[in-house]
Amino acid sequence: MDEQSHAQTIGYEDVWILGGARTPFADYNGTLRDVSATDLGIKAAREALKTTGVSVEAIDAVVASSVAQTSFDAFFLPRHIGLYSGLPIGVPALLVQRLCTSGFEAVLQAADQMALGKSEAVLCVGTESMSRNPIASYSHRGGFKMGQVEFKDFLWEATLDTAPRSRMGDTAEELAKRYQITREDTDVFAATSFARAVAAQEAGFFSGEVVPVTAEKFERERYQTREIRLPRNVKSLASDEHPRPTPIEALKSLKPAFKGVQTGGNSSAIVDGAAAVVVASGAFAKKAGAVPLARVVAGATVGVPPEIMGIGPAPAIRAVVAEAGLKLDDISRFEINEAFGAQYIAVERELGLDRERVNVNGGAIAIGHPLGATGVRCTHTLARELKRCRGRYGIATACAGGGQGVAILIENTDAAAA
Ligand SMILES: CC(C)(COP(=O)(O)OP(=O)(O)OC[C@H]1O[C@@H](n2cnc3c(N)ncnc32)[C@H](O)[C@@H]1OP(=O)(O)O)[C@@H](O)C(=O)NCCC(=O)NCCS
Repeated sequence: MDEQSHAQTIGYEDVWILGGARTPFADYNGTLRDVSATDLGIKAAREALKTTGVSVEAIDAVVASSVAQTSFDAFFLPRHIGLYSGLPIGVPALLVQRLCTSGFEAVLQAADQMALGKSEAVLCVGTESMSRNPIASYSHRGGFKMGQVEFKDFLWEATLDTAPRSRMGDTAEELAKRYQITREDTDVFAATSFARAVAAQEAGFFSGEVVPVTAEKFERERYQTREIRLPRNVKSLASDEHPRPTPIEALKSLKPAFKGVQTGGNSSAIVDGAAAVVVASGAFAKKAGAVPLARVVAGATVGVPPEIMGIGPAPAIRAVVAEAGLKLDDISRFEINEAFGAQYIAVERELGLDRERVNVNGGAIAIGHPLGATGVRCTHTLARELKRCRGRYGIATACAGGGQGVAILIENTDAAAA
């Protein structure tokens, strides 16, 4: 693939992930349906600061990632996340959007700020409410002719890339054709994703990153109080809602969603949630007495044809491995976002990956894919998994609608020392 020749890559010397936290990921129109992306982000951000012990005074910047606008005050999302996380008023806040890879972009923006000497500690927050995507019109401000009303389901319309006129699902079907991926292959992979996520939940793996969400007020002196409201009768949401025991037979019985191999069971689940990590320089970590989780070694961003957008992780992985001077065999663990089952399998076949090293705690088919939150979640999960398995290098990556791929290579330095 010649896309790699245009890859933007960068290596980092002294950038670290200190730790993080996330909300549970809740099913579409489920327990978190009334919570805006801003409030989900505030919750994750506050918990990330708490768990890392980094003082709000020490944060130099907020980098937030979110794709859809899910409240009338959405323009202010990054700023409100900073304010209601208790950061000093002078700390600036930025929103980044690279579709499904936005969360990776947030971490890379933070790393870039460190490389440029602009920041020592950055709060990265990925957040998305898929349920609160609006029913929207772009043409009615000037009125409309009788009977010609435009209001449409934004979430559904937004999964159509109008350049190739392909739905995101169609791009996975195209990869299925090109890589000869069958419905059986796709369902087998999805069953593995569910089984691994359920096993990881049962083993308590996710309790190292998921914090329960309860009804809660976010206060800041002189400003309006915000709040998280849960549905009546729900006191708390403590774990991801979508993973469930899923025998292959249940997946086989589902109807195709896009006239091919993809179904509602072997595509990424549509969920609401947020994830946050604190990214800092080595000097900062030392000064703060923090024990970092992982070092950010390198990042890569590539473009691929929109009609096969899901292949993006393949050239991004090749580029990031080359940037770090490593080989694919050096990588102990991958977190590859499962936008669609066939999309993941295409990446696996393109690179000849060993599935035993990929998404070992389940992926987005089981856990869900809240667009702007996914990259932060995958990077944090990967850092924790490297610690658990005592692996040294890991890559977290995703494809993005429109045709892009982003990959982040991280190192568990404990394994290097061992
Ligand atoms: C593929 C997609 C269109 C399916 O949407 P949907 O038809 O609304 O899917 P549902 O969640 O209703 O699932 C369909 C059926 O499968 C069932 N199902 C899903 N997962 C299951 C599981 N693990 N076990 C058993 N049944 C399952 C559902 O219960 C549902 O059954 P029903 O029809 O009897 O209610 C949608 O999930 C999608 O677009 N996903 C990708 C989102 C996206 O594009 N993200 C960006 C990536 S670039």
